Amino acid sequence: MKKLYVKTYGCQMNVYDSARMTDLLTPLGYAPADGPEDADMVILNTCHIREKAAEKVYSDLGRLKKLKDGRVEQGGSMLIAVAGCVAQAEGEEIIARQPAVDMVVGPQSYHRLPEMIARIHHGAGHALETEFPADEKFDMLPEERAVSGPAAFLTVQEGCDKFCTFCVVPYTRGLEYSRPVTQIAAEARQLAAKGAREITLLGQNVNAYSGVGPDGERWRLAQLIEHLAGIDGVKRLRYTTSHPRDMSDDLIAAHGRIPELMPYLHLPVQSGSDRILKAMNRQHRAEDYLRLITVIRAARPDIALSSDFIVGFPGETDKDFAATMALVRAVGYAQAFSFKYSARPGTPAASAGRQVPEDEKDARLQELQALLRTQQDQFARSCEGRTMTVLFEKPGRKPGQAVGRSPYLQAVHADGAAHLIGRLADVRIEQALPNSLRGVLVSGAVHSGEGALAG
Ligand code: 5AD
Ligand code: SF4
Repeated sequence: MKKLYVKTYGCQMNVYDSARMTDLLTPLGYAPADGPEDADMVILNTCHIREKAAEKVYSDLGRLKKLKDGRVEQGGSMLIAVAGCVAQAEGEEIIARQPAVDMVVGPQSYHRLPEMIARIHHGAGHALETEFPADEKFDMLPEERAVSGPAAFLTVQEGCDKFCTFCVVPYTRGLEYSRPVTQIAAEARQLAAKGAREITLLGQNVNAYSGVGPDGERWRLAQLIEHLAGIDGVKRLRYTTSHPRDMSDDLIAAHGRIPELMPYLHLPVQSGSDRILKAMNRQHRAEDYLRLITVIRAARPDIALSSDFIVGFPGETDKDFAATMALVRAVGYAQAFSFKYSARPGTPAASAGRQVPEDEKDARLQELQALLRTQQDQFARSCEGRTMTVLFEKPGRKPGQAVGRSPYLQAVHADGAAHLIGRLADVRIEQALPNSLRGVLVSGAVHSGEGALAG
């Protein structure tokens, strides 16, 4: 048996892709390795969104080269593949910078890994695949999916046509592509049959989903969600990431109507300043976003909101930043991610406007994160005393304890719940901790009609 180690950087779509690459290589005789030390093949599934993430790949490759050299000295071998968005963006440059790399494969062509491995074994030297046949990829992936827990990711849409001026995604992931409904439903049925109870639908711009339905018409995300909610065993659905411009009325209405659709929405705004939003090519104003939030809350009053923010975008002044802080105060987020602007090669913003000095970016990030932290704590405290359904996913730190997710995506741990892993149960929230909630099981409140995890 050969061993495979996959390291995943970046977003949830990379987590999905890593799982699919593993599925693809299982029939070739690769079993999972615990670490790179005992692997015959290592895949780095990389992220190009910010400079830091991209540079980390090269330091990891340096360490892998040493492992590989050691292996070769002992008469063995090791294949190193760089996959993901750095592979797409930098291609051959990666091999030039680190010749120990055998394969470079972009996010739209990893279905070709088996033939690339064969080419290497036939003495081809290096193999490079960075084409964009997105429709082909999904047709070529094995139908069989390994399921590793009750919460699964399922990519329904890839790529982005929005071209925000800071973002590499349209270049690394390509333009929007939506998978057909029947293909997605088949994958969801398989996940559910193998014990998945929650499915998160993934796409760089998932609410722009527009895939061919079984009736030959284009289906929107709300229709897809309703369809998937009807699958036996699917108890919870989520989707991420969404663009404010594509938050359509039918999708908002779905939040009020479909019980399986969880009351949580990640809706990145990036900035609260109209001037900066315009420079970012976000195609909406702060006011449009706030209005949208009001409508969403009217449809689903308890919805937990999350966002991404960038501070220090070129040209951002103190006044622009103050507008971001004001927007955050107006919305009240349950959760959020915030980043310092990182100039990405080839994107319009990298060469535009006044780049904001690093210390200013630092100060703004700290101020923003302090506010977001306060809001997150407030939201967590507002859950104390409430009873909510938790999907238990894995054992906790203490014996007998299990950890799961609330409807609002918070981590919840409860004692004496280990036997409930893979199932939904009602939990009373006792205490909000910094990054999780402590709850107690409400007796007899295990949700009926569900099997434990298969296999
Ligand atoms: N610099 C900093 N953050 C970025 N993001 C995307 N591109 C950049 C960049 N160049 C952030 C955005 C996006 C999230 C996934 O990453 O906030 O929503
Ligand atoms: Fe990048 Fe998202 Fe903008 Fe698309 S919508 S360009 S993925 S930030």
